[in-house]
Amino acid sequence: MRAAGVEAFGEPLRELSVPVPAPRPGEVLIRVGAAAVNPADLGMVAGRYRWADPVRFPLIPGYDVAGWRADTGEPVVGFTLHKATQRGGYAPFVSLPEDLVVPLPATADITEAAALPLAGLTALQSLDALGPDVRTLLVNGPRGAVGGFAARLAAARGLTVVSDDSSPVDAALDVIGGAAAQAAFDRVRDGGRYVTVVPEFWVPGGPFTAARGIDPQVISVGYDRASLLALVRHHAEGTLRPRIGTVLPLSAAAEAHRIAARAPGAARISGKVVLAPDL
Ligand SMILES: NC(=O)c1ccc[n+]([C@@H]2O[C@H](COP(=O)([O-])OP(=O)(O)OC[C@H]3O[C@@H](n4cnc5c(N)ncnc54)[C@H](OP(=O)(O)O)[C@@H]3O)[C@@H](O)[C@H]2O)c1
Repeated sequence: MRAAGVEAFGEPLRELSVPVPAPRPGEVLIRVGAAAVNPADLGMVAGRYRWADPVRFPLIPGYDVAGWRADTGEPVVGFTLHKATQRGGYAPFVSLPEDLVVPLPATADITEAAALPLAGLTALQSLDALGPDVRTLLVNGPRGAVGGFAARLAAARGLTVVSDDSSPVDAALDVIGGAAAQAAFDRVRDGGRYVTVVPEFWVPGGPFTAARGIDPQVISVGYDRASLLALVRHHAEGTLRPRIGTVLPLSAAAEAHRIAARAPGAARISGKVVLAPDL
């Protein structure tokens, strides 16, 4: 099959011929209909990601896939848990442990479903980390994938979500890092809550030590099947609608990364960049 990947850190993505994966016992082979591009994919290819294990090349990125089970044809969405499995979704097929794959309603939009897992799980886990006593929440990047989902899910939980109001808030969720992270922290009332999904090694300069009775928490997304099922439910009910910016063929994966990185000369696109092997 023709996947998109690199043979070494720092290379632009290119088409690679690799075997169709043979599912091991307990795995599901997915025919990929859509694979979403995430900032982590860019960092992984560039070599600035903190991997759990030595990296195997060719490196095929991609945390988020939606498509169909190759055995039954049932529509599914999968979280590749790339940093642990090193199974990337930028390919016509990916084999994943059964636990990482959940069914989709027959009517689900495959492109939108592919945009759910990484950003959605991160948003849910960030909100859970805020604890129960938060009524007002600042999300500093509500137009992004994680920030957008977090804002929607927080509102669905009854929180008042703000992005640019200047009054103190009970809690802030930082999805940008650096100076924007510090500005968000400064908006939190004394003794409030502050959660960031942007660790120091990713974007330096955010607040990571306690001050004014606020103890910063750094979220590192983990997999949780019940949460992925909940995201699919929210999507089916219309609570979560990913903003799709553009859908490109797998052969344009390098351009997709340039767009996602807002590289000079790349198209300026707001919303999720998605790769579609069948395009
Ligand atoms: N810790 C974890 O487990 C975890 C998991 C998922 C994601 N993340 C991280 O979370 C961050 C957001 O991810 P995402 O998927 O939501 O990305 P995204 O969809 O690209 O969203 C990023 C948002 O931040 C805004 N933004 C970026 N730089 C900014 C700046 N300097 N000032 C103001 N706004 C800025 C963007 O605004 P524009 O659209 O206007 O540019 C956009 O709304 C990334 O750093 C990603 O690596 C961490």
